[in-house]
Parts: sequence; C-alpha cells; structure tokens
Amino acid sequence: MGINVNRRFLLGGAVGGAGALAGCATAPASAALPADSNLPAGLFGPAPGVALLSRNENPYGPSPKVMAAVAEATRCGAYYCDTSYLAAMIAEKNGIAPSQVVLSTGSGEALSAAALAFGKSGAIACPALFWDTTSKYAEAKGVTLKRSPMIGDLEIDLAAIEASVDDSVSMVHICNPNNPTGRSLDPAQLRAFCSRVSEKVPVLVDEAYNELTDDPAGNSMMDLVRAGKNVLVARTFSKIYGMAGMRIGYIMASEEHARMISQYVMSWMSAPSLAAAVASYNDDAFLAFSKSKVTEARQMVHAAMTANGINYLPSETNFIYANVPDAAAYQRAMAARNIQIRGPYGALTQWSRVSMGKIEDVERYCAAIPEALGA
Ligand SMILES: Cc1ncc(COP(=O)(O)O)c(C=O)c1O
Repeated sequence: MGINVNRRFLLGGAVGGAGALAGCATAPASAALPADSNLPAGLFGPAPGVALLSRNENPYGPSPKVMAAVAEATRCGAYYCDTSYLAAMIAEKNGIAPSQVVLSTGSGEALSAAALAFGKSGAIACPALFWDTTSKYAEAKGVTLKRSPMIGDLEIDLAAIEASVDDSVSMVHICNPNNPTGRSLDPAQLRAFCSRVSEKVPVLVDEAYNELTDDPAGNSMMDLVRAGKNVLVARTFSKIYGMAGMRIGYIMASEEHARMISQYVMSWMSAPSLAAAVASYNDDAFLAFSKSKVTEARQMVHAAMTANGINYLPSETNFIYANVPDAAAYQRAMAARNIQIRGPYGALTQWSRVSMGKIEDVERYCAAIPEALGA
C-alpha cells in the first residue's frame, strides 16, 4: 500500500471506549462558540435560542479528539498538507487501494466532480427526488439529468431508472438512504440493480447517511466496488461524524474512475480538516454515541408525530419526512417559535423535513407540533 498507517488510528485510537464517551458527554455544550469568543457572532451554527433542525447536521460533533487534533494541526498551518495518510486509512478500512479514494471538500465536491466528469459524455439518470445539489451544479454547466418519477410513498423506482438507461446515459446516480425522504432501498434489490446496470454505465451511490442505518455494511454497495464493478460510493464526515463545517468527504471507485473524478476536484483539504478526519475516522466510541443521539431523537419525533396524527416515512437517518397539511405554513409556525425546519421541496407542498439535532431542540420541536399543525 506504500503508506504506513498507524494502527492506533485504524483500531479506533488508544483513548477510545469509556474515556471517549465521557468526553462526548460534553460535546453538546462545546458545539457553540464560548461566550467570551473573539470570533464574530453568526459565523457558525444557530443564533442563540434557535433550534436548528433544517440542515441534517449533527450538533454532537466534532468529537473531543477532533478538537484536540485541530488545535495541534493549526500549529502546522504554515504547511501544505499531505492527504495520503487519510486516503490510506479510508482504503484500509474499506478493503481497496489508496489510489481508489478521491478526497474532497465535503462529499459535495467529489459528487460535483463526478457529475461533471461523467456528464460531459452523456446524461445522468437519477430519481425525481434526491439530494440533487451536485447534479444541478452539473446541469447548470450543460449536463442533462434524466429523472425517473418516484413510486409508492416517495420510493426510488429502480426499475424505471434501469429502463431509462440507454446510449444517451453516461452515469446513474442513486442516493441511499435518500434525502429528503430518509428511505432506504432494499439492499438486495439495490445490489442486484447495481450489478446489472453497472455492466452498461457507472452507478454512483451516495451513502452520506450509511453509518446511521441499522446495518451499515449490509446497506453499503462497497462490496461491489471491492469486486471491481463499475460502482462508485460517496461518503462524508458531515453527518455521523458531526463535522459538516469541516468540509471533508470522499468517493471510492475504480482507480480509473478515481483518476477521472480527481481531474475535476478543484481544491484540497485544509490542515485542520485533515487532522479532524484522521482523528475521528475510526473513533467508534464517538460514532456509537452520535448514532445513539440520533436514534433517541428519532424515537421522540416518531412518538410526537404519532400522537398528533402525522404520518411519516420510515427513516434510518438523522431526518424525518412527514406528511403535513401545509408544509410552508408548518415551517412558518415553527419559525415563529425559533425552530428551523425545511419547507416544501418543489411541488411536494404537504411534506416537511425535520432534522434530528440536540435533544433539547428536538423536544422543543415535538412540543410545538400541535400548535404548528393548527397554524
Ligand atoms: C445525501 C447527501 N449527500 C451529500 C451531501 C453533502 O454533504 P457534504 O458536502 O457536507 O459532505 C448531503 C448534504 O446534506 C446529503 O444530504
């Protein structure tokens, strides 16, 4: 592999376990600037008193280990940094070569790069509803999106997407679990789909929320990347790792595709981001802590929605998509109570997305549901 990856990081760090969890317990308070900070207010996170439940972030991060690592890295901020160590860590954990990892500024950059790299030779086949920010970025530069309508309760129609793959298509893009619906595809069906369709065109699976699902390994299509299939998998440090502001993500693919995508990646990682990623990548105690907070919040929201007669889609993510009479009015009513949630997505005016956040903020959301529904 050429890179000597430190076993301490690969095995989750020597200070994992109970010590790390004790540190995690203080993370919520630290996910805000201290009162005596010299930084201008409003640079990061919610304004005081605002429950920020609109952006699928994880306010329980970053982990205490990350904060220590970032402080250390800042001392070396004079130097350009070497990302090969992180690529090797990711490769080792996923059973691929470092040359198959494309690091980027959030997974968004690698996803945009992939959309441009493949989109120049054909259309991108995708669902009607998914996290399409990066596909739209490519669309604005002339790439065609070939969207297939959703079926049932806003499910991705794999059969329709497969049928849409013809000579005009250069890549398929699936998001699993999907955003904003939170729904997961049946892993066996998705695996069979990827195996078949990747014989024709590359299939990119955005797995931003994979680690939050009940069975991350079973839900992931990484086994197909390892098997040399024409499949690409995107991951991020923005969700379970609680580091959306640190901007670290990556795509894992064949060496050829990794090279292709790299040509469209425009920036490279900052020293604090690199340190944060290395310090947290195998911090299993923190990841379990984050997941437990998301699960706790989801159970609270599910119970409150059920009590208030709101139907919601099944979710294994840190957000819930729920059926309300008027998503815009519901959002306004929540905003009037200093609770930020998402408004309608296009024509889906009766669907409202709420992100899991700090437990106390989720409590406020749950308590506000009856009044917001009446708005
Ligand atoms: C499905 C999905 N993929 C990718 C991203 C981009 O995340 P980032 O660029 O922070 O890695 C998001 C952001 O919300 C997302 O929901």
